[in-house]
Amino acid sequence: MKQTDNTEGHRKLRSYVLRAARMSNLQRRSYNDLLPRYSVPYRESGISLKEIFPAASKYILEIGFGMGEATVRLAGENPDFGYLGIEVHKPGVGKVLSEIERLSLDNLRIINHDAVEVLESMIPDKSIDGVHIFFPDPWPKKKHHKRRLIQGPFVDLIVPRLIPGGYLYICTDWEEYAEQILSVCSQAEGLQNAYEGFAEPQPWRPRTKFESRGLDKSHRIREVYFTKTT
Ligand SMILES: C[S@@+](CC[C@H](N)C(=O)[O-])C[C@H]1O[C@@H](n2cnc3c(N)ncnc32)[C@H](O)[C@@H]1O
Repeated sequence: MKQTDNTEGHRKLRSYVLRAARMSNLQRRSYNDLLPRYSVPYRESGISLKEIFPAASKYILEIGFGMGEATVRLAGENPDFGYLGIEVHKPGVGKVLSEIERLSLDNLRIINHDAVEVLESMIPDKSIDGVHIFFPDPWPKKKHHKRRLIQGPFVDLIVPRLIPGGYLYICTDWEEYAEQILSVCSQAEGLQNAYEGFAEPQPWRPRTKFESRGLDKSHRIREVYFTKTT
């Protein structure tokens, strides 16, 4: 489990391991053929969300969309919002690309890259109305907790990118990680809890693959919903 140094000399968060990914034929074909059409390539400078989604009234970022169940459904249900999904896992990217094509979703685009670097380089300050992080990898072993995505420095990367009043919505089925997420968000400068403690489930949130896995194991789902103070 290796971590790499970043240019500033401190340890960089590596919240995922890219294993050789098994892709279905459709996922592979979609990945190869549709990535140039429906993805925003990683770059080291800010993007214009207005250029990517000219008709959108709000911009929503989803980090680690997995197979994209929530991403695709929300984009279909909210054609006025622009959804930008970030994921490193190629089968999920292939799957979402095939759904964008099949459903002609012009309000959903993806970035196939590490969310930490995407936030650092590409997402302008005060540009995002909402951030979704559904069932981030829990890294259950104690020696791997340093790989968890939701830590102070990561949340500190998100907060400036939110517009005032924008929200950060995180769900997990891992009780002890849920406590950590609530604590990290409660301590983050510029965020306030929209609830007392854990949030009510948002009725519009679709169920995801990892949520179903948790429920199959009788895990309790915990939700955290914070907004950016003005
Ligand atoms: C446990 S899965 C959850 C997927 C999906 N949200 C769900 O609920 O089914 C976590 C996902 O986050 C992705 N991920 C983890 N760290 C990431 C990072 N730094 N940048 C982009 N994606 C990341 C992983 O590749 C994985 O697909």
